Amino acid sequence: MDKDEAKRKIKQILMKNKENPVQQVVDFLQSNFEVYSWVGIYMVKDNYLHLGAWRGDQATEHTKIPIGKGICGAAAKTGKTEIVSDVHADNRYLSCFISTRSEIVVPIKRNSKTIGEIDIDSDTKNAFTKEDDLFLKEIADMLSEHIHNQ
Ligand code: SME
Repeated sequence: MDKDEAKRKIKQILMKNKENPVQQVVDFLQSNFEVYSWVGIYMVKDNYLHLGAWRGDQATEHTKIPIGKGICGAAAKTGKTEIVSDVHADNRYLSCFISTRSEIVVPIKRNSKTIGEIDIDSDTKNAFTKEDDLFLKEIADMLSEHIHNQ
């Protein structure tokens, strides 16, 4: 799907006040982008990332990750996107699924503070580009606004 169209649809999901819109956004991303094999939202609390909404073939054992640990923890610590083109070549990587080849983690921020993140695993090597980063940053901003208004 075209990313501009996806942004419009996600905005609608969050505006329409449906049941559990964050889960619906996760479902939307996972089902409309072929290389987004597993999509999850982690939220920061007490120096840990806690897994909230997710969608993919399998559950992960990493439902609570210390800030600073793994790719997820690194992005939360620096507040910057992590794009790992080959997870097996990155020794920070915390393995969740045997099929995963690449990963992107985009922080969700509120007033420059990282409050959570979007984590996407792909079964395709080198699946993520700067375009995914920019797209997911916009989604992260929408989620931040939504969470704040809850
Ligand atoms: N691979 C992540 C852990 C979370 S799973 O991908 C769902 C990491 O290295 O932090």
